Amino acid sequence: MLRQELPEVKSVLGKLAAIGQRGPGAITFEPVLGAGADLRPTDANLSELAHTVDTLRASPVPFTTDRRDAALAQGGTSLGGAFPKTAAHLRLEGDVIDRREILKGGEPPPGFAPCLLKFARSSDEAESAVEFAFWLMAKKAGIRLPRACLVHDGECCHFASERFSRYRRPAGTPARRHDHTLNGMLHRRASDGAIDYEEFMRLSRRLGGASEAQECFRRALFNVLATNRDDHGRNHAFLYDETDRSWTLSPAYDQNPQVANVLIALTWLGSTQIPTQFASLLRMAEIGGISPKTTREIYTQVEAATVGGWRAAARQAGVPAAMITY
Ligand SMILES: Nc1ncnc2c1ncn2[C@@H]1O[C@H](COP(=O)(O)OP(=O)(O)OP(=O)(O)O)[C@@H](O)[C@H]1O
Ligand SMILES: [Mg+2]
Repeated sequence: MLRQELPEVKSVLGKLAAIGQRGPGAITFEPVLGAGADLRPTDANLSELAHTVDTLRASPVPFTTDRRDAALAQGGTSLGGAFPKTAAHLRLEGDVIDRREILKGGEPPPGFAPCLLKFARSSDEAESAVEFAFWLMAKKAGIRLPRACLVHDGECCHFASERFSRYRRPAGTPARRHDHTLNGMLHRRASDGAIDYEEFMRLSRRLGGASEAQECFRRALFNVLATNRDDHGRNHAFLYDETDRSWTLSPAYDQNPQVANVLIALTWLGSTQIPTQFASLLRMAEIGGISPKTTREIYTQVEAATVGGWRAAARQAGVPAAMITY
């Protein structure tokens, strides 16, 4: 039966049909191919999934074309990003939740939140804990964030965050928000070269006014101070509110250490040098219409959360001691 579906998956329309209703953002495709519509949530064994992911990562040629097409028809779509992840419905209670089985597909039942779960590598136990520690630091830094936690599958922990492009209307019906990356907003592809924080700041201010300019500046400082150098144009996004037709910065995601001695993703005022002078921060703030007083307040809060807060956040997240020092 799957074989009959394969030619369809191979066409562009076939791929959109396979995405069906599972994709990120608010756009869905009809008719749906294969299991793309999956109306009912079902249980999946998390540690088995994690082992399969590990095997695929270790294999130089993980999929034949046919298997890839079959997986597309079954699994709907990629959720974006370089690392393996899955959509799951979770009860978000506390920092770490124990789940051997996760619910996948359909709409989340009452009490469950639609989440994106990033599979940890079995060879790198600290990976998920570090991402969660960064989430804790970002929260302390006052950054807008999705709810998040670590999911322990009995063997290791995976990082999960609530999908911000999904929500429930007051009547309880599920709804979706349009989600557009910084790259997309600027009509830029990854291969088009670096985006500058100045462009990000001007766009945030133009779309969302003073509040979004400040949010952008807070994230810029966080990424500089927390050594998140991989903050490329697909690691920032905007959400569209259809009711009041406004754009805001989406909750922040993919905040991870990427220690490099130059800025390898977004540049700062045309330079790949890491800003070290307060004057350079003030110049960026000025582009966002942020006063020097507010700039200092944001700086003080972000510095306390990152430079001053790493050890506490990392301990809370369960990062091993050697990794905390590193
Ligand atoms: N909480 C969330 N809600 C909705 N979408 C999200 C959420 N977190 C991440 N995303 C989307 O999923 C994509 C992949 O997530 P993320 O960037 O964390 O993964 P990654 O594999 O580490 O990415 P990268 O390739 O940048 O290393 C993001 O680019 C973003 O569009
Ligand atoms: Mg990413």
